Amino acid sequence: MKVTVIGTGYVGLVTGTCLAESGNQVACVDTDARKIDLLKQGVVPIYEPGLKEYLDRNVAQGRLTFTTDLYSVMDDSEVLMIAVGTPPGEDGSADLKYVLAVAESIGKRIKEYKIVVNKSTVPVGSGDLVRETIRKHTNVEFDVVSNPEFLKEGDAVNDFMKPDRIVIGVESARAEEVMKRLYAPFHRLGHRVVSMDVRSAEMTKYAANAMLATKITFTNEIANLCGLRRGHQ
Ligand SMILES: NC(=O)c1ccc[n+]([C@@H]2O[C@H](COP(=O)([O-])OP(=O)(O)OC[C@H]3O[C@@H](n4cnc5c(N)ncnc54)[C@H](O)[C@@H]3O)[C@@H](O)[C@H]2O)c1
Repeated sequence: MKVTVIGTGYVGLVTGTCLAESGNQVACVDTDARKIDLLKQGVVPIYEPGLKEYLDRNVAQGRLTFTTDLYSVMDDSEVLMIAVGTPPGEDGSADLKYVLAVAESIGKRIKEYKIVVNKSTVPVGSGDLVRETIRKHTNVEFDVVSNPEFLKEGDAVNDFMKPDRIVIGVESARAEEVMKRLYAPFHRLGHRVVSMDVRSAEMTKYAANAMLATKITFTNEIANLCGLRRGHQ
């Protein structure tokens, strides 16, 4: 399958490289020309065990390329993955300006059916905003999919290649079939692709993050309690 990954940060680079490793033809796009130059030279800008080896192999075998020019690669891809940053604003809300800028660029260029997959962490309802933003510029058919990422920094390649779960939020059977085909090599060991609607997938990411924070807080509280008790002995 041909895939364009837009945003070559932590999530985008790991996603693009691992999808190439499983046999897809992947173009990674970033507006940061320096980052793209380094990647073209084989310099991986993040520390992630296994990533450099996968990147070198897939570049050498012609399955993985890097560019700053989205329009030079997107026409050829069936799947467009958005993996740009969503930095928190002062009130903690996610800033969607990068996601929506990508949606606008896609809308202005799209020539035939595409699946636009959002991997960035976004509030519930963002898929609708992405769809509306693209639709403002085109009558071409497309699907918007939510596919949140659960990788851990430091073990991201392993998490991607052997995921605990793959969540896909879809609104059409066509998009669901393509996403299941894309992820088929990653759940051979029996791991599940969990399919739901777009808003439910967006909510699932926040629920998982909140659960993780709850577990860490609980563990810290228990550790504090143990420390206090030791202090009194
Ligand atoms: N880092 C993690 O562990 C992690 C895990 C799960 C989910 N996420 C989520 O995934 C998303 C991406 O996170 P990240 O850590 O990879 O971000 P990052 O900041 O490392 O990378 C984002 C990249 O997008 C690029 N970019 C911005 N606008 C662009 C555009 N219009 N076209 C092309 N590229 C553009 C930036 O130059 C940057 O390289 C965020 O929503 C984040 O919350 C991150």
